[in-house]
Amino acid sequence: MLRALASLFFYARFFHRFSRVGLRRRQRRWQAYSTRLDGQTWLVTGASGGIGAAIAIEAHARGARVLAAARNPDKLAELVLAAGGSERMQPLQVDFSSVSDTRRLVQALTASDERIDVLVNNVGLLLDRFERTLEGHETSFVTNLLSHFVLTEGLHADGRFTDGAAVINMSSGGMYGAPLRLSGMAASSARQHDGMAAYAMHKRAQVELTWAWNARWLGQPRVYVMHPGWVDTPGVRTALPWFRASLRRFLRSADEAADTALWLGSTRPPIAADGGIWLDRERDPAHAFAMTRKTTADAAQLHAFLIGQVESSSSARFEGAVP
Ligand SMILES: NC(=O)c1ccc[n+]([C@@H]2O[C@H](COP(=O)([O-])OP(=O)(O)OC[C@H]3O[C@@H](n4cnc5c(N)ncnc54)[C@H](OP(=O)(O)O)[C@@H]3O)[C@@H](O)[C@H]2O)c1
Repeated sequence: MLRALASLFFYARFFHRFSRVGLRRRQRRWQAYSTRLDGQTWLVTGASGGIGAAIAIEAHARGARVLAAARNPDKLAELVLAAGGSERMQPLQVDFSSVSDTRRLVQALTASDERIDVLVNNVGLLLDRFERTLEGHETSFVTNLLSHFVLTEGLHADGRFTDGAAVINMSSGGMYGAPLRLSGMAASSARQHDGMAAYAMHKRAQVELTWAWNARWLGQPRVYVMHPGWVDTPGVRTALPWFRASLRRFLRSADEAADTALWLGSTRPPIAADGGIWLDRERDPAHAFAMTRKTTADAAQLHAFLIGQVESSSSARFEGAVP
């Protein structure tokens, strides 16, 4: 009952920002920008469906070479078809719920001397049921956060980013409901697992990680965190059918949700010292409620926690991050 009331309050509070209504309002302030991406390489994770596919298809249409990473080979083949069978749309079959598979992707990109202009850490899911990977992690934790960490740190350590490159972390407005807390982020049993709360914490952690990376890497690459608003995608249809049913008319399309990632990757605005999160080409505050500022961990502790989680997946020391 309490949770239902909290959800109702949350949806009412953010309706005018996260729904299509908010998009329409902000669109009026948009200005034209140079959209061509010829000669650039974009790596998009979770690229075979929903928002990731919309970003991949549009980046390709604007001239970029797109490395499209996702799990399902049939859906990846459809994506290549949607790009007219173009060689500039390159499918990469990767399971981002696996640390070792993500590390293999980094190794493969390094071995083939890839240079990345824009990385979009888009893959993510809300998983209500408790599910453990073969490596012993809770599945949504790896997919939403740990794989982003391994991929981005690995590419950075291997010098894969071009000068002036951008990393775009796809968070969620759900993070407005969660403080950064390391406990509860990666449950080890079904009893501990609360899918919705864990998702919000992963998405809050992406915000913190963004600022940790900017502090460490000083803008090479520039790291942005954004959220797409409320979007009608296969993921929402599966994870939140009641939400989709009640707000369907007000949800954004995947193409609309892709806009901010394409704009950030094209224009690469300076990193602001006071953080924030991007939505509809504007930077919003990272907190909407005082309670989410009350954290039990800071960005440095999150970074150390993630290194520990990577190392727990294998006996090998994690080479990506230099504490
Ligand atoms: N939709 C929204 O309203 C909304 C709101 C806020 C934030 N977001 C965020 O936006 C991002 C995209 O969401 P979406 O709604 O577009 O999701 P979606 O419709 O579920 O699409 C997710 C994509 O990721 C791939 N994927 C899922 N698990 C994977 C794995 N383990 N390894 C590799 N690829 C995997 C899926 O393809 P395969 O399953 O075939 O691999 C698919 O291409 C997520 O980070 C989500 O949290 C979405």
